Amino acid sequence: SANDRPTGQQQTATYDSAFLKACRREPVPHTPVWFMRQAGRSLPEYRKVREGTAMLESCMMPELVTEITLQPVRRHGVDAAIYFSDIVVPLKAIGIDLDIKPGVGPVVEKPVRTRADLERLRPLEPDDVTYVTEAVRMLVGELGATPLIGFAGAPFTLASYLVEGGPSRNHEHTKAMMYGDPQLWADLLDRLAGITSAFLKVQIEAGASAVQLFDSWVGALAPADYRRSVMPASAKVFEAVSGYGVPRIHFGVGTGELLGLMGEAGADVVGVDWRVPLDEAARRVGPGKALQGNIDPAVLFAPREAVETKAREVLDAAAGLEGHVFNLGHGVLPNTDPAALTRLVEYVHEQTAR
Ligand code: CP3
Repeated sequence: SANDRPTGQQQTATYDSAFLKACRREPVPHTPVWFMRQAGRSLPEYRKVREGTAMLESCMMPELVTEITLQPVRRHGVDAAIYFSDIVVPLKAIGIDLDIKPGVGPVVEKPVRTRADLERLRPLEPDDVTYVTEAVRMLVGELGATPLIGFAGAPFTLASYLVEGGPSRNHEHTKAMMYGDPQLWADLLDRLAGITSAFLKVQIEAGASAVQLFDSWVGALAPADYRRSVMPASAKVFEAVSGYGVPRIHFGVGTGELLGLMGEAGADVVGVDWRVPLDEAARRVGPGKALQGNIDPAVLFAPREAVETKAREVLDAAAGLEGHVFNLGHGVLPNTDPAALTRLVEYVHEQTAR
């Protein structure tokens, strides 16, 4: 049944998958492909099952989560599934009053701005997210050899939503706290690191075979500020899950100047957006790490030949890497033609078959 724990045989097949081999920088039968935001509004079957259910509500329904997570695996033949959830789910689970507004993103009712506000950020216990454990177990049972990627938001990106109260272009309240009250900021990030670590552990213990830490908005920082004010909290998260032996992926947007530090924070795989070619990214990250990326998601709106030319460029830049996981440089855009994604998976698999 769907609730069966993985058998030894299944675990071995998953361990030997192209995706996990690439993360470990081992030889692969083909370059593995998955897409950030692969499960979402680009798919008609997603819109159909989500109809009438709010985003956060759907994240707490294990059967729905399982179906949505499997949809892109069935349709595109991607090499990994990513757990359907959102970075604000663990915050909701500890009682923060927030919602995900369609077309806007996460909105926090009472922003976190003072020391007293920190008290609302209590530690996350596995019992707060039993629906996650249940969904991950179901998924791993259904996925066979296809690995499941668990994920969480990194402390900086979560802090930005909490301190701003919603999506932000300039992160002004967040930076005001970071520069103006470094101790409060450090304590906030430390609490978030604890919550994020606990949330990743729940997913790994239920059967996720890799994790991605999304620091989507950290590209807003200069390297010195990242190193001083953010890296210790992100490093704490990577350290907390280091004992499981599952690959740890780290990704942010506009992080060309931070790639080396993001690797140093403790990632095994560094995600790269489309602004830095992968050969240059490899120089910035240094040896001993795999890279993930990095075709511009907007390229998928161009004709097939243009998509393939761009994909070829990415593969050529990745030719000398120790390990490469093909992905977009950020999430799938909502109006992307799903057929273009399926064709891209086929193209990368064909071009790299060994
Ligand atoms: O397919 C997958 O990648 C798994 C599901 C997933 C979602 N959010 C579902 C979602 C993942 C991995 C995320 C992570 C996430 N959420 C990030 C990090 C990745 C990134 O994009 O940088 C961030 C910053 C968020 C916060 C967030 N949640 C934003 C900015 C939005 C978009 C708002 C909008 O509607 O345009 C969301 C909502 C969200 N998360 C949706 C989905 C499918 C859309 C809501 C809906 O379908 O109703």
